[in-house]
Amino acid sequence: MGKDVKGRRDFMGMALGGFTAIVGGIPALYAMKRSWDPLPSVKAAGFTTVDLSGAQENVLNVEKWRGKPIFVLKKSKDMKADDRDVVIGSDRYHVSIGLCTHLGCIPAYVADDHKFKCACHGGEFDSSGHQIFGPPPSPLEIPPFKVDGTKLVLGEAGPEYKKMLDAGLTV
Ligand code: FES
Repeated sequence: MGKDVKGRRDFMGMALGGFTAIVGGIPALYAMKRSWDPLPSVKAAGFTTVDLSGAQENVLNVEKWRGKPIFVLKKSKDMKADDRDVVIGSDRYHVSIGLCTHLGCIPAYVADDHKFKCACHGGEFDSSGHQIFGPPPSPLEIPPFKVDGTKLVLGEAGPEYKKMLDAGLTV
């Protein structure tokens, strides 16, 4: 019987702990949501076409492709160029699946620091999606994409994506 009471107490402690974690997470979720800014996009048959012509530097856009969040970040001139950048004209973009490569949480973009921070276990990624701190074992993954003028077609593997894939840069 003593064991039962202890079991119940453990359960209550766990339930309260979970509740506190949820309440604590609400402002973070709200801040994260506010910083997400989708661009005009069209979804059809497994593809999402995103018009990048209105993208602003250092503002994270979160698109949706096959139920996954896709990060699209137009890099500012002071951000380091990277082989993983999607280059359109004279602009560079970071495009990745917005799921932390540790355990799959959605990292938030901290514009002032030019990095992505994962609230789950403190993992961090730079503006090219490379893991720079904490437990994530690999960079943010790059989804198949094709560049079509100023548009980005998510879900179609264009030559720019295939080049990255062959070079082992997409994961
Ligand atoms: S899920 Fe992102 S650091 Fe663990």
